[in-house]
Amino acid sequence: MSSMIIPRALRVRSTVLVHQRPCHQSFRALSTTFSCLAKPPPPTTHPTQHEDRNVQSGKPVAEFAKEDETKVSGLPEEPKEGGPPPPLAGKTVTELFSLSNRTVIVTGAARGLGLTIAHSLLDAGANVVAIDRTPEPADEPWSDALKLASSKGLKLSYHSLDITDQASVSSLFENLFASAPESAPVRGMFHAAGIQLLMSALEFPADKFRGIIDVNINGSFFVSQAFAREYLKWKENKTKAKAKAVGNEEDLDGASIVLTGSMSGHVANFGLECAAYNASKAGVNQLVKNLAMEWGKQGIRVNSLSPGYIRSAMTAQLLAQKPELDDIWHRGSLLGRLSTPDEFRGPVLYMLSDASSFMTGADLLVDGGHTAT
Ligand SMILES: NC(=O)c1ccc[n+]([C@@H]2O[C@H](COP(=O)([O-])OP(=O)(O)OC[C@H]3O[C@@H](n4cnc5c(N)ncnc54)[C@H](O)[C@@H]3O)[C@@H](O)[C@H]2O)c1
Repeated sequence: MSSMIIPRALRVRSTVLVHQRPCHQSFRALSTTFSCLAKPPPPTTHPTQHEDRNVQSGKPVAEFAKEDETKVSGLPEEPKEGGPPPPLAGKTVTELFSLSNRTVIVTGAARGLGLTIAHSLLDAGANVVAIDRTPEPADEPWSDALKLASSKGLKLSYHSLDITDQASVSSLFENLFASAPESAPVRGMFHAAGIQLLMSALEFPADKFRGIIDVNINGSFFVSQAFAREYLKWKENKTKAKAKAVGNEEDLDGASIVLTGSMSGHVANFGLECAAYNASKAGVNQLVKNLAMEWGKQGIRVNSLSPGYIRSAMTAQLLAQKPELDDIWHRGSLLGRLSTPDEFRGPVLYMLSDASSFMTGADLLVDGGHTAT
C-alpha cells in the first residue's frame, strides 16, 4: 500500500462563514474547524477544566490541540454566563435515575413485563400503584414486590380495572392522584397492559379486530388522558410554596408517561399473522407523538418503549400455537436470543426518571437488533 503525503496547505482545515453569529465566536468540531475571519479575542479558558487554564500556557488540552497555537479554537459545551442554569446540573447521575419522592402507576401489572417493571420501580425508590383487569396479581412475584416495598418503607397497591372502560379509568385515576402522599405525588406511568391475537387477515372477525384496537389503542389513550387530566389538576392546585414545604423544590416538577408499543409497530413479524396487533402498536407509537406535542409545555413527557420478543405469558401462548416460531424468532435476533422482562428495567427507568428530561414524543426500540435487518 503506498502512502500519500498531503501538503500542509491541504490538510483538513476548512474555514466556513457562520451566519447570524457574532464574529468573536469560533468553533471546533472533530476534524473540521469553523471560524470567523475577524481577529479572535484573547484566549479563553476551557469550561470543563476545574482550574482556569490559559490555552497559550504551553499545556494545551485535547480540545485546544491545533496546528496554529496563536489561534483560539474550541466551543465551550456550556456557556459560562448568560441564559438559565442547566436544570439538572446539581444532580448526581444516581439522583437523575432515582424515583424517590414520587408515585408511579403501572398498568398490566398482574404479571409479565408490567409486574417486573413495578418491582424495579420500587427498587428505584417509587411508590407503585399496580393496575390490571385480572382480579389478583401473580402470587409469587407479587409477594416479592410487597416484601421489597415494606423493606424500603414504600407503598404498593393493586387495583383491578379494565382500561377500555373510560369512566372507570377516570374515576380510579382521580382517586389515585388524590390519595397519593403529599411527599410522593403521582409523576409517572408505565402502561404495559396489552393483548395479542394470532389470526389470518382473511379471517379476522370485526369484533376480534376491534377488541385488539380497543385495548391496545383506546386503552392507551384513556389511561394517558386520565393521567394528564389529574396531573394538571394536581399541578394547578399546588402552590410553589407548598411544593417547597414538602422538599420538592429541586425537582423539575414534571411527569413522564411511557406507553408500550412494540417492534411489531415498526415491521410485519415474519411468520406471525397478527395484523390487528401490529396496526394497534403502530398506533401507540404515533399516539405518543401527538400527546407529547399537546402536553409537553405543561410538563408532561410522553414516550413509548418498543420491545422485541420477550419471554412472557403472551409469547408462551403464541409459541404453544406455532412452535416453529421459536426458531424464526431466534434467527431474526441479532443477539440470537429472545429477551426477558428484566432487560427492560433500565430502559423504562431511564424514560420515567429525570435522566431522560429532554426526551419526549420518542420511541425507544429495544429489540435485540431485530428490526435493524
Ligand atoms: N411479550 C412480548 O414479546 C412483547 C413484545 C413487544 C411488546 N409487548 C407488549 O408489552 C406489554 C406487556 O406484555 P407481556 O408480555 O407482559 O404480556 P402479558 O399478557 O403477560 O401481560 C399483559 C397484561 O395486560 C393485562 N391486560 C390486558 N388487557 C387489559 C385491560 N383491558 N385492562 C387492564 N389490563 C389488561 C393482562 O391482564 C396482563 O396482565 C404488552 O403491551 C405487549 O403488547 C410484548
